[in-house]
Parts: sequence; C-alpha cells; structure tokens
Amino acid sequence: MSVSRPVTTTDSGIPVPSDEFSQSVGADGPLLLQDHYLIQKLAHFDRERVPERVVHAKGGGAYGVLEITEDVSQYTLADVFKRGKRTELFLRFSTVAGELGFADTVRDPRGFAVKLYTEEGNYDIVGNNTPIFFIRDPQKFPDFIHSQKRRADNHLHDNNMQWDFWTLSPETAHQVTLLMSDRGTPYSWRHMNGYGSHTFLWYNAAREKFWVKYHFKTDQGIKNFTNDEAAAAAAADLDTHIRDLHTAIKKGDHPSWTLQVQVMPFEEAADYRFNPFDLTKIWPHEDYPPIDIGTLTLNRNPQNYFAEVEQAAFEPSNLVPGVAPSPDKMLQGRLFSYPDTHRYRIGANYLQLPVNRPKNAVHSYNRDGAMRLDNPGDPVYAPNSHSGPVADPTLLAGEGYEATGEIVRSAHRLHAQDDDFVQPRALWEQVMTDVDREHLVTNIVAHASAPEVLTETKERIVDYWRNVHKDLGSRVAQGLGVNGK
Ligand code: NDP
Ligand code: HEM
Repeated sequence: MSVSRPVTTTDSGIPVPSDEFSQSVGADGPLLLQDHYLIQKLAHFDRERVPERVVHAKGGGAYGVLEITEDVSQYTLADVFKRGKRTELFLRFSTVAGELGFADTVRDPRGFAVKLYTEEGNYDIVGNNTPIFFIRDPQKFPDFIHSQKRRADNHLHDNNMQWDFWTLSPETAHQVTLLMSDRGTPYSWRHMNGYGSHTFLWYNAAREKFWVKYHFKTDQGIKNFTNDEAAAAAAADLDTHIRDLHTAIKKGDHPSWTLQVQVMPFEEAADYRFNPFDLTKIWPHEDYPPIDIGTLTLNRNPQNYFAEVEQAAFEPSNLVPGVAPSPDKMLQGRLFSYPDTHRYRIGANYLQLPVNRPKNAVHSYNRDGAMRLDNPGDPVYAPNSHSGPVADPTLLAGEGYEATGEIVRSAHRLHAQDDDFVQPRALWEQVMTDVDREHLVTNIVAHASAPEVLTETKERIVDYWRNVHKDLGSRVAQGLGVNGK
C-alpha cells in the first residue's frame, strides 16, 4: 500500500518539480540561473556550518531535571535551590582541545555545562570534570589554549608545546596531575563527576553572604580508561561517549549525579589557609565538608543535534537572584567571554533559539537584530510612563560587597599555605592508590616521550614533578631517561 508523502517545496513553501534534475537548455546544455530551487539548495548548503566552538568543540548533551532535597535557604534565597524544587535542564559534555570530529576518549578535561531553566531565568553552571583549572588569570587563557591546539607551521598537536607552557607555568601542576591521571581519560560521561570549579557568592533572604562550590558526584561511580584502553576506544569509535550517553538514555537507563555544595561563611575567606578564589585550588573536605542537596538526572535525548547541541550557548554570567560572582579572576574573565563568543558564533539573537531561551517570560528592552523571531512592542525605552517593565533595585542588595585597593597587575594575594605544589602533593601522597600512582607515572612518561618533546623540555618536566613529590620526579626521570636541570 503506498503511503501518501508530501510534495517537496522550496524553503518558501513553493512545490518543486524535481529533486533530481537541474533546469538546463536541452538535456546536454548549460544550467539556468532561473532555477531558483537549485540556487537555493546550493546556497543554503554553502552556509550549513556555523563556526565550531573555539574550545570544547566536540560534545554531546541531554535534557534532564535537578531536584533539590535539602533546605539551604539559610545560605541562598535562590528559588532553584528551594527544597522540593524540580528544574528542567540541558547538560552538554565536551572535550576541550579537539575539533568537532575529534575522538571522545583523548586525554583532556571534559566539559560539564548545565543550563537550568529556572523560574527566575536561566542559571548556567559551566564547569568541567575537574574541581580546578590550569591557570588563575584569564590573561593566560588564549596562550594556554593555543599550546593545547595545533602548531602554526605543520598544523599538528605538539606535546613539546604543551609541556613547554605547563613547565613555565607552575600553577598548572595541580590540574596537570589530574589530567595525567586516569581521570584524564574517563570511560564515559556518565562515569565522571562535574564541578562548578569556581567559588560563587550565595546570599540569603536576610542578605547574609556565603562562598560556595558545586560538586556533581556521579551516581554511576567513577570509571576511567587506562591510557591504552583510551587509545583503543578511539581507534574503534571516535564517538564512544556520545553513543554511550545516547544509548543509555534511549533504553531508559537515566544517569544521575548527586549535587553537593561546600559552603564557607563570607568572613572566613579573608584569612583561610588557601586563597579561596584561586581556581588552581580546592577547599579540602575536612575544612568545608560537602553537603548533599539534590539530584541531577538526565532523561531525554535531543532530537536535532545541530539545533539543540551545536547551537546551545552556555554563559557563566547567567546567574539568578541568590547567586553572584566571586572575585575569582578566571570567573570574572569568563563572564565576558561566553556571551561575546555566542554573538560571534551564533548571532545577536542566540538567546531566542529554543535550547537557549528561558522558560519564564522575558521583559527586556533589547530588540531587533539579525534573525529576530519576536520583538518587544511599545514602549521601546525606559524610563517610560506607559506600563513598560521596571527594574527591581532591591535585587542588588544581596550581591554587593566591599572592594578597595590600588589598581595593579599582580598575582593574587598569597594566603598562609598557598603554594602551587601543596595540593597536587596531597593528591599523590594521601589520595592516590599505588595503582593510581603507577598509572600517573606511565601516562606522564608516555605523553612526554612523544618524538617532538625536546631534551631541554624533558629536564624541566622532571623538575616540575620533583616539585610535586620527589618520588614522582624520580620515577618520571627514570622513565624519560633524563635527570632534570
Ligand atoms: P579528601 O581525602 O577529603 O578528598 C580527596 C578527594 O579526592 C576525594 O573525595 C575524591 O573527590 C578525590 N579523589 C579520590 N581519588 C582520586 C583520584 N585517584 N584522582 C583524583 N581525585 C581523587 O582530601 P582533600 O579534600 O583534602 O583533598 C586532597 C586532594 O584531593 C586535593 O589536594 C585534590 O588534589 C584532590 N581532590 C579534592 C577535592 C576536593 O574538593 N576537596 C575534589 C577532587 C580531588 P571526588 O569525590 O570529588 O572525586
Ligand atoms: C567553552 C572561554 C575557562 C568550561 C568555552 C568557549 C569559550 C571559552 C570562548 C566556547 C563557548 C562557545 O562557543 O559556546 C573561556 C575563557 C576561560 C575559560 C576565556 C578563562 C578565562 C574555563 C573554565 C572552565 C570552562 C575554568 C571550567 C571550569 C567550559 C565549558 C565549555 C567552554 C564546559 C563548553 C560549553 C558548552 O558545552 O557549550 N570557554 N573558558 N572554561 N568552557 Fe571555557
């Protein structure tokens, strides 16, 4: 029995006579400019790609829900964190340095970007699977990323370039320890944690302030590939992690994460033993024990990858009442960078796309621009005497704090135990098992043994790891066959 099928149309809805043949002057003659259908098809194809993300280009995502189970109203007035609240969300996972077609299982941090469609607007927690980062000043971010991407001359990734940057930037040691451990090659996105990484400000209804860190702990358990397993997985399937997530959700096996927060009273930041706004540091659990506050579950696959995942636009500047930025310099830099890149990559009206637009009503005086879907009506300015939206100055009261000082360009203030190596040393000495340590050493040695890595760089690599721990340095020296400087 034949199924009735719609007639193909142009994008203007006009029925077309052929999907197969262009219009020509005789069967063997040249084609005609009047064949509007052909022209539209080729011209649209020529414009199918938007620029890929400058970092975190390769990824995948899913929809889900965040359910809050504990009362944290003593710390934040944010509606999204009220006990019993359920908030729809979209989560995108990614690798950092590779391009759109890159293998999912390469050694790299993984992005863990959550967009919460709250009743007070979108709240984006744009984190990674690591609680820390390589650098602590946004000035260094483009240089750091260039060192992880491709050389100018031969367009190749270059391990010498990576180690050159890392060993000349000792603040990278903590994150590089995590990256070179088996956590740098997760088995799947379902089997890793996510971290907000930065410190954020929370304030409650009484306008008391707290510093907070977010941890999304995988309920599936941590599971990693070894170096060799990750390489084998990449050879077998470039898209292992996208496939794994999509397949799990499709069969109803919905992955979940327990949301924990570490909360520091506002005043304690001033003389805490580590500078709490330094993104290369964690807050030890014994100082600020993580508190379980809810569960994030992924339960629905996107239907259209380009529309919903490729055009998803996360921005650390999307913060809702009850949450505000801390002075973490990296966070401050990111507040600018993301909306800026979205305007370039997707366009001025990226927030009107379904995956990005808030679920609550928008009352803004921003209007017009390319590809605007709907537009606010009159009045088109504020202040006005015509019942247009009015801002609420009481919102500001919560997020303000005093900041004074001379205008400088300097490193952040060192607190009592601030040192680039103390926390990676704790990881090596106190947290890692013998197997973790063995894999860390072999992963470092494998990575730094790439033919392009210069002897001079290898010597600095040994010194870098000796600073973390003398045993680690000695084992790397032995593996690389150099002694250090
Ligand atoms: P704890 O012993 O209380 O916590 C150590 C944490 O390290 C664990 O809870 C776990 O965090 C994480 N971890 C466990 N095994 C590994 C591993 N093989 N590789 C990487 N991380 C692992 O000690 P502290 O809080 O004092 O932290 C000690 C060190 O642990 C830190 O210097 C840091 O390097 C690392 N760490 C600390 C975290 C924190 O927020 N305090 C978070 C992650 C690592 P999780 O469950 O979050 O994976
Ligand atoms: C993506 C800039 C640090 C996590 C991006 C993008 C830019 C960027 C331009 C591409 C966004 C897009 O095109 O959609 C920066 C700058 C940083 C910084 C300037 C430092 C100053 C960090 C840190 C983290 C992080 C510290 C994690 C804690 C992410 C994630 C994405 C991303 C997860 C991908 C988001 C998605 O899935 O679309 N970053 N970044 N970045 N960044 Fe950063």
